[in-house]
Amino acid sequence: MIKVTTEISRLARGGRAVGRHTDGRVLFVAGGVPGDTVEAEVTLESERFLEAKVTKVLKASPHRVAPPCPHFETCGGCPWQNVSYSEQIAQKKSILKDTLVRGKAVTKDEGELFQEFIESPKEFRYRSRVTLQKRTNGQGTEIGYSRRESNEFVAIDDCLLAREELIPFAREVSTSSATKVRDRFQVAIDDNGKLSVGGAFTQVNFEQNQKLQSLVSDLISSHVRSRPEIVHWHFLDLYCGNGNLTFPVIEKVREEMPDKVMEATGVEQTEESILDARKNPRAQQCRFYAEDVEEWLVRQKSGPSGQVTKKGLPLDGVILLDPPRVGCTKGVMMKIARRKPSYIVYVSCDPATQARDLARMRETFSQMKVRYDVESIIGLDLFPQTDHIESVVTFRRKAN
Ligand SMILES: C[S@@+](CC[C@H](N)C(=O)[O-])C[C@H]1O[C@@H](n2cnc3c(N)ncnc32)[C@H](O)[C@@H]1O
Repeated sequence: MIKVTTEISRLARGGRAVGRHTDGRVLFVAGGVPGDTVEAEVTLESERFLEAKVTKVLKASPHRVAPPCPHFETCGGCPWQNVSYSEQIAQKKSILKDTLVRGKAVTKDEGELFQEFIESPKEFRYRSRVTLQKRTNGQGTEIGYSRRESNEFVAIDDCLLAREELIPFAREVSTSSATKVRDRFQVAIDDNGKLSVGGAFTQVNFEQNQKLQSLVSDLISSHVRSRPEIVHWHFLDLYCGNGNLTFPVIEKVREEMPDKVMEATGVEQTEESILDARKNPRAQQCRFYAEDVEEWLVRQKSGPSGQVTKKGLPLDGVILLDPPRVGCTKGVMMKIARRKPSYIVYVSCDPATQARDLARMRETFSQMKVRYDVESIIGLDLFPQTDHIESVVTFRRKAN
C-alpha cells in the first residue's frame, strides 16, 4: 500500500477532501478536513488523480470536529460529520460558485452576486424521510443503509440525520407481520407527527423547506411587484411535486397584490403528488397535470409572455423549475427558453446538472437573441453533514 502525506485545501463534490500529491496530481482524500495535514493510504491511482483514505491526522485543522455518529466510518452517508458546520457552509458556498462558473451557467462577474448560503437551524435530526434496507439472518432482522458507493449492507442502531421517531418506527415495521415492507423501504413522518411507510417525494427538512418556500415566494413576488404595468401573470411550476412551492408563491402574490391576477399551472409526473395538490384547499385558479415535463411542454403552443388577455391587457409569465438530481433534458431547457418568461427560478439539488442546464438555456437565449440577467444566486443547506447542495438561481428578462 502506498502512503502519502498531504495538506487538505478544500472539500469537493462527491464528499471527499482535496489535497495534492508531490508529483502535482490531485489527491481526493476520504476523511480529510480543510486545514489538516494527513497521512493517507492510496486506494486508486490514475494518470490525472489519486484517491486515498486518511490513516493518520498529522496536524488537525481548527475545523476538525469529532463525528458524533458511531457509524461515521462505515456508513459514509455523512462524509462531512468531522467538519465544523460553519466550515461545511463555507465549503458548500465555494463549490456551488465554482461549479456554476466553470459550467458556464454564470460568468465570473455574475458569480460575484452569490453572497448568501442559508444555514439549516438543525445540524442533526432534520430528515423526515429516510430509505433503509432490511436483512434477516440467524440472529433476526437488522435495518441499515448501503455503504456509500457500494452495495455493501451496513447495519445501524440509529441515524443522527433522521428525526428521532423514524429509526425505531423503521425497526418496528421491518419485523411486523401486519406491515409488509420490502427489502428496501422508506419511512416518513409528516408535520403532524404521523408516521408512514413509502410515499411520493416530499422535502425532507421541514425547517429548511419553510425557508425555501419563503425564499422562492419572496423572489417571485418582488419580481411581480417590479412590473406594475403587468396585471395578469401566469405562474408555471415545473416538477411541482404536491404543490409545495406553488401554493406559497400564489398566496403571497395574491395577498400582497390583490390587484394582480395570477393563474398557476403545476406539472409533475407522480400521479399521487398531483392528486394531493388538486385536493389542497389552496388550489383555486391552479391547474395540475400528472405528466412528464418535456411531454407537457411539447403539447403547449407558446408561453404567455408578450401576449394579451381577452380584454387586451398584457400578460407575462414566471417559470419555476425544481427538477430531481439528474436535472432537465436539453429539450426542457430549450422549451423554457423559447417561452421567454419574464422571470425564471431554477431550484436545484445538484449544482453540476443545474450548471449544465442553465448553460444550455443561455445558449438558446443567445441563438434567439433575447437577453436575460442573472438576478440572484442563493445556496440553502437542506442536508447538513453531507455533500448535498441546494441552490436557487434566478434570471430576469431584459427589456429589448
Ligand atoms: C426535487 S422534487 C421537487 C418537488 C417540489 N417542487 C417540492 O418542492 O416538493 C422533483 C420532482 O420532480 C418529479 N419528476 C421527476 N422527473 C420528472 C419528469 N420527467 N417530469 C415531471 N416530473 C418529474 C419528481 O417526482 C419530484 O416530485
